[in-house]
Amino acid sequence: MTRGPTVDRLVIAVDGPGGVGKTTACRAVAETLGWSHLDTGSFYRAATVVAMLQRLDLANEAEVMRAVAAVELDYRAGRMLVEGIDMSGAIRSEAVTSQVSGVSALAGVRTLLVARQRSWVESRGGRAVVEGRDIGTAVFPSAPLKVYLTAHPAVRAVRRAGEASAGLEAVREGLARRDHQDSTRLVSPLARATDAIEIDTSHISVADVVNKVLDMCTERGLGTA
Ligand code: DC
Repeated sequence: MTRGPTVDRLVIAVDGPGGVGKTTACRAVAETLGWSHLDTGSFYRAATVVAMLQRLDLANEAEVMRAVAAVELDYRAGRMLVEGIDMSGAIRSEAVTSQVSGVSALAGVRTLLVARQRSWVESRGGRAVVEGRDIGTAVFPSAPLKVYLTAHPAVRAVRRAGEASAGLEAVREGLARRDHQDSTRLVSPLARATDAIEIDTSHISVADVVNKVLDMCTERGLGTA
């Protein structure tokens, strides 16, 4: 995997399960710092769309890898582009949401996508707020600031139900299933890095989460470089 020696010198790594408010908070932090924001979940979702469009067997690692390796993926201004086409809507469909955990558990697919995430960050001089499940543990293990967001499952379900067309109970079940899959997979499972600072977002506002993270950046001299 290619990456410069200093690519994670500045990265702010934000991990946590779905529905904890990662994207909203990371976008705001990045905007305040004038840095880039990368939602790595969009890469796994895009890989799932690519495989589904080609009607591949999603459990066939070699086939899915071949398809993913052949497409250009980019993330720009919060939009996920596949071969230059904006697939931001398609990656959020319920069909994709129900399959993405399985695709993200394929070791070879992770290797391909982690390399792309690292070069994306490198191309922005490392000044990036990067969110996902394994950013602090595997993608940027030397990041100077690691944050792990959590929230009560009921709160997460309500937040996600607001974004989805499915009912609350279906969303709650889907989140629980994905949590289980994401945290028990063999490669880079969802986990809090030992040096990550945990913030429970259940009962605090987005602005409070953002301010906490920005305070941590100030303490570490991040955002001034
Ligand atoms: O954050 P999200 O719900 O869009 O993530 C979609 C899926 O991708 C989720 O099941 C976990 C997986 N994922 C991952 O394995 N590693 C990441 N760095 C980001 C997401």
